[in-house]
Amino acid sequence: MSIGQKIIHLESVDSTNNYAAILLSEGRIGHGTVILADEQTNGRGQRGAKWLSAEGVNLLFSLVVQPDNLSVSDQCVLTEIASLALIEFLRKFGISAQVKWPNDILVNGEKIAGVLIENHLKGNLIASSVIGIGLNVNQRVIDLPRVTSIVNHIDTPFLNLTETLLSFLASFDSCWKNYQLHGKSNVREAYLKELYQLNQLAHYADQHGEFVGEIIGVTEEGLLQLNKGDETKVYDIKEISFIYRNAF
Ligand code: BTN
Repeated sequence: MSIGQKIIHLESVDSTNNYAAILLSEGRIGHGTVILADEQTNGRGQRGAKWLSAEGVNLLFSLVVQPDNLSVSDQCVLTEIASLALIEFLRKFGISAQVKWPNDILVNGEKIAGVLIENHLKGNLIASSVIGIGLNVNQRVIDLPRVTSIVNHIDTPFLNLTETLLSFLASFDSCWKNYQLHGKSNVREAYLKELYQLNQLAHYADQHGEFVGEIIGVTEEGLLQLNKGDETKVYDIKEISFIYRNAF
């Protein structure tokens, strides 16, 4: 089944990721299904955070993919495909976005979309992946620091959410096909071109405190590689924070 051929639209749900996981466990949905909600009562973000959104103005959805033969050690390709799809989709509006490792989508340093991927394994392989996306579309004012929406960057005052979702799914479909045709190294190359603060000095914090460092890449497994003083360090998502200060 192709991406978005089946869309299940709910008025309200705790989390579209949870709902997708239940339907998957019951064998009721498969590759390409999208669970879309107008409202989430327990929207979940990365690192155990909540994902908050006003009702009916933004896109809250989970896309299920079932890759062929993707091993757990290569799972970061899913993060990269989702990020590239969002960046490509935003480009259709003339919006230039970047990905803050691993998968926060930023426009001028402000977050416009977040991604929460939850994988379901079969042995050493990813049987199904639930790619949960919160995309700020029509909410002009968001009571959080460094957050934005599509409408803040275009002339149209309000976007139709169904059309916007379909447009995103077309971008995802093209990134997915690109991955199937050209493989993970092609995806990685494209992802690195969009990486926020790559090869730039910036402020970070790890378990030892704040420091000035430089992102130099991402490992095979998708961990962040960063130069700190004379050393190259490798970080997992919970081990590093980006600190917001004036650029150098
Ligand atoms: C992040 O912290 O940046 C990730 C946010 C992901 C939010 C989306 S909204 C749809 C899906 N359902 C959830 O509960 N979370 C994801």
